[in-house]
Amino acid sequence: MATRIFSKRIVRVALLLLIPLVAIQFIHPRLENPPVSADLQAPPEVKQILERSCYDCHSNQTHLLWFDEIQPAYTLVKGHVLKARKMLNFSHWDSLTPPQQKATLYLSLNKILYGEMPLSQYTMLHRNAKMTEEDITVLKKYLVNLTPVKVSDTSRVNAGNRQYAQWINHSTTPVAVQPAANGIEYIRGYNNWKAISTTDRFDNGTIRVIFGNEVAVKAIEEGNINPWPDGTIFAKVAWDKLVDSSGNIHAGEFKQVEFMIKDAKKYAFSKGWGWARWLGMQLKPYGGKNVNFSRECQGCHQPFKDNDFVFTMPLQLKAK
Ligand code: HEC
Ligand code: HEC
Repeated sequence: MATRIFSKRIVRVALLLLIPLVAIQFIHPRLENPPVSADLQAPPEVKQILERSCYDCHSNQTHLLWFDEIQPAYTLVKGHVLKARKMLNFSHWDSLTPPQQKATLYLSLNKILYGEMPLSQYTMLHRNAKMTEEDITVLKKYLVNLTPVKVSDTSRVNAGNRQYAQWINHSTTPVAVQPAANGIEYIRGYNNWKAISTTDRFDNGTIRVIFGNEVAVKAIEEGNINPWPDGTIFAKVAWDKLVDSSGNIHAGEFKQVEFMIKDAKKYAFSKGWGWARWLGMQLKPYGGKNVNFSRECQGCHQPFKDNDFVFTMPLQLKAK
């Protein structure tokens, strides 16, 4: 008798719990697929990978599976899709200039390499959206070929060498350099700091060197780099990469210098770092009047959040 009352109560409770679950199935504002204005154009093997792994969220061609349609999953999925489309939408590819398109693909590759994209919550249920090593190789190859290495003529190589010599001597640094829109002042003399790493960015044909100030170098020596101590500054310089007829690589035109300045308190709002970049020999502040330009920097450095947002592993530590 007692057990019967008890089990009746369980059924009643279970039914009560079911009601909201059933009810929310009707709260189902549809996720629309708005028109595609200009779809990304890429070779079919590249396109297929992106369609399979990214298009459900980053395009206006979202295909939901039956289990995505069930609440509360539906609201979650819809939230992801709306947010993802806002940040990157392959269906409005023409809203980006060709250099922006290339940079976006490079950012995408980074997000894939660091396991941020596609979202793991999604690939758990959508197994075929998982990226394989082969997929990644295909994407990399495609990006490399977007920027073929061209042999530069001798006059360009010579001009590059001259500019490099000037850069070493600071002889062309303008007397007054405008601060960046976020208030960060240009830092002179970084080219006397220690070079801690150098990389060759395959997608956009530049040579880059990363310098660290004294605080950074000391932190490296002491192995105290996560988090980096306040006062650490990195400067990253990029030159055009020129290749002469013998295949030697030269630094060409000076493209830009950018800085990350560590101050956990002062820059708490931007991941503990102050971000700024100056373009060309004229050192024009990047971002114009937009104080929020550094969101772009933070976004691309985000995959390295467990590394205090720093990509570079100093050469010295790598060798250890
Ligand atoms: C399940 C949905 C989902 C899938 C699938 C997905 N993304 Fe995302 N993606 C998002 C969301 C949500 C964001 C915004 C993340 C944030 O900032 O919180 C995002 C952000 C990004 C960004 C950052 C854009 C910016 O301007 O900062 C890139 C790049 C990106 N995704 C690329 C990809 C690529 C490439 C794929 C496929 C390999 C992919 N995503 C698959 C949901 C998704
Ligand atoms: C598209 C991705 C991307 C964006 C956007 C980006 N960075 Fe980076 N940054 C990198 C990568 C990748 C490295 C690692 C070195 C390399 O490969 O060039 C790096 C390295 C750096 C370094 C050297 C320290 C380190 O983390 O290795 C500085 C300084 C830096 N970036 C500053 C900036 C600033 C300032 C901005 C914004 C104005 C910015 N970055 C925007 C990708 C990006």
